[in-house]
Amino acid sequence: MSQRIAVVTGASGGLGEAMCKAMSDQGHKVVGSYLPGTDSEAQLWQQAMQTKGYDISIYPLNVADYDSCCSFIATVEKEVGPIDILVNNAGITRDAPLKRMQPQQWQDVLRTNLDSMYNMCQPVFDAMCSRGFGRIVNISSLNGEQGQFGQANYSAAKAGIYGFTKAIAKEGARKGVTVNAVSPGFIDTPMVSQIPDNVLESIVAGIPVGRLGQPEEISRAVAFLTAEDAGYITGTNLSVNGGEYMS
Ligand code: CAA
Repeated sequence: MSQRIAVVTGASGGLGEAMCKAMSDQGHKVVGSYLPGTDSEAQLWQQAMQTKGYDISIYPLNVADYDSCCSFIATVEKEVGPIDILVNNAGITRDAPLKRMQPQQWQDVLRTNLDSMYNMCQPVFDAMCSRGFGRIVNISSLNGEQGQFGQANYSAAKAGIYGFTKAIAKEGARKGVTVNAVSPGFIDTPMVSQIPDNVLESIVAGIPVGRLGQPEEISRAVAFLTAEDAGYITGTNLSVNGGEYMS
């Protein structure tokens, strides 16, 4: 198993932490990102990971801002090494029915969840192509596939990820760079726990498997797609949603 350098954005979130562990378990050197201004929380998280045996480097990053992404990537490449694996995981929700959705809610979600894909991929992509190896996984969502009440912004951003993923998958295909999406359904994370109880109950009732997913059930899909021998899988989407949406 060769050691690669893997970046996971939004590392300390419910899904991000499981992805960092999975990447580490594959033998990779893992670099996580955290929101600028949350240094002390990030350091506590890093220490907690260390006590569990995971040595994760962390740097501040605002994925919604291109310059922040460029400077994060430059720092990682200087201090850790060239990025081989990129997992674009950071994302937010600002749920509201369309009639009450404010321009700020729309813009925040589009910038963080969709612009971030360009912001992170553009500065690493050419170097991956030149080195002849790269694995990019963009985290989309079940709600980008099926749409969700109260998530016009989030569903639009997550659906946009599919077009972006397929386009750059074609650009990287002959250069050893694969680009895929993973679309989690409702997973047991802080993001999902913000859904009002009565709404969540009816969501879970509609999941064929009959329960929320676990973060590790997403990170294993990411590990699969970033593997050394996953070079023939590109431009696709892997849905992990307990059967809630079957495309
Ligand atoms: N389908 C149809 N109608 C629905 C509905 C649905 N799914 N959900 C609510 N409604 C209806 C209600 O029955 C109610 O109807 P009446 O007005 O006729 O009684 C009305 O909509 C409620 O509207 P409100 O204006 O009162 O809505 P609200 O402001 O209280 O709440 C909301 C709206 C914030 C969007 C809330 O419904 C909500 O939180 N929904 C969950 C959104 C969601 O699934 N978010 C996922 C977050 S996790 C995630 O995104 C991770 C991932 O990738 C899967």
